[in-house]
Amino acid sequence: MRTFLIGFMGSGKSTVGRLLAARLNFRFVDLDAFIEEGEGTTIPEIFDEHGEDHFRLTEQKYLHSLGKESDLVIAAGGGTPCFFDNMKWINEHGVSVYLKTSAEELYNRLRSEKEHRPLLSGRSDEEMLKLIQDLLEYRDPFYRKASFTVKTKGSTPETVARTIFSLIRPQ
Ligand code: S3P
Repeated sequence: MRTFLIGFMGSGKSTVGRLLAARLNFRFVDLDAFIEEGEGTTIPEIFDEHGEDHFRLTEQKYLHSLGKESDLVIAAGGGTPCFFDNMKWINEHGVSVYLKTSAEELYNRLRSEKEHRPLLSGRSDEEMLKLIQDLLEYRDPFYRKASFTVKTKGSTPETVARTIFSLIRPQ
C-alpha cells in the first residue's frame, strides 16, 4: 500500500507523513528530500540553475520511481499533483489524502521560512499572501481529486495523522 499526502507548501505533509508512517510501520518518503538526495543538490538550486520546467520533469521522474516500492507514506511536493497527469498517476498507485489548509494559515506558517521555498523567496509579505491565495485557488481543484480530504485547522499533526490512519488503514 502507498499513501500520498498532498497539499500546499506548509500544510504539514512531512510532519504528518512521518507520524503516519510510524503508525503504519511503513517507510516515509519526503519527495523533495528524495529528489535532493538523488540529484545531490537542493530544490532551490535546481530552480535557480535549470528553471521550474526542468524541476517538474525531475519531480515526475522521482514520483514514478516510487511506483516500484510498496508500504510507503509519501509527502508530495506542493506542486506535484498540479503538473502533467501526476494526480491521475497518484490515484492509480495508492490512496491520496489532501491536507486542506486556508491561505491565511499557510501565510502565517510560511512567512518565517520563505527563503527555502523558491516560489516564495524574495517576495514581500503582501506579495506572498496574494501568491498563496492565487496559487491555492488554482491548485485546489487538483488537490480535491484526492481520495480523502482532511482539514488541518486547529488540529495537531498527531491528530491529523490519527485521523488519516483511521481513514486508510486496511479493514
Ligand atoms: C513547491 C513545493 C515544494 C517544492 C518546490 C515547489 C510548490 O514542496 O516541491 O519548492 O510548487 O508548491 P513542499 O510543499 O514540500 O514545500
